[in-house]
Amino acid sequence: RTKTRIHHLQTWKEQGQAWPMLTAYDYPTARIFDEANIPVLLVGDSAANVVYGYDTTVPISIDELIPLVRAVVRGAPNALVVADLPFGSYEVSPTQALESAIRFMKEGGAHAVKLEGGDRMAPQIKALTTAGIPVMAHIGFTPQSVNSLGGFRVQGRGAGAEQLTVDALAVQDAGAFSVVMEMVPADLATDITKTLGIPTVGIGAGSGCDAQVLVWQDMAGMSGGKTAKFVRRFGDVGKELHSAATEYGSAVRDRSFPAEEHTFVR
Ligand code: KIV
Ligand code: NA
Repeated sequence: RTKTRIHHLQTWKEQGQAWPMLTAYDYPTARIFDEANIPVLLVGDSAANVVYGYDTTVPISIDELIPLVRAVVRGAPNALVVADLPFGSYEVSPTQALESAIRFMKEGGAHAVKLEGGDRMAPQIKALTTAGIPVMAHIGFTPQSVNSLGGFRVQGRGAGAEQLTVDALAVQDAGAFSVVMEMVPADLATDITKTLGIPTVGIGAGSGCDAQVLVWQDMAGMSGGKTAKFVRRFGDVGKELHSAATEYGSAVRDRSFPAEEHTFVR
């Protein structure tokens, strides 16, 4: 296998070849996803929820994310690794965005960064791409703005459709190599995908996007409780792990583990 580069994503769009993307936050899962031929891995700020246990993605910092990026890069020699810029690390100015993105590239070893926002983030996207940092944009429902969007809601309905199209074109014009569209009506996402030259990555945006992304814990049954409507569970890793830990616990308690074959002699 060859290492995934941005031009491959562009070629896949032109060929109509859909590609998968998953989040990853550590070395062992990055290795498994790389071996499973997932070409793009995102160290999402969703780590706030699924790794650190925060309620939202708002509190997570660059310092909490960079070690995860390093681990994923070490685990996935073939994948294109994209790092999320967390809330508060890029909104102030293009200079702030550049300083934050440089940390993810230099200290984290990321190959690209992702940030939330369309038209309003065009100056930031332009500054990063001008500096040689590839940018994936993220429009539609943007979790870092959950407090101003009024909760987890589908975006781009009614009059919002025009704004979403404006945002998609703005990030493309600013130099983004790709754009995530989260929780938008499928027909709108399909229209935007056809309009744009760059690949679109859908999450809750239907099958018309060029690519799809999911949080791996949602995809593999590792996130407890109710998941969003757009999630399909492809495995039950949480149940498997629970049962392994339970069986280990009882084997220790009833002294059936360790057995003779796990034991050293003098
Ligand atoms: O942080 C994240 O996991 C994301 C994707 C789900 C798009 O931004
Ligand atoms: Na994110």
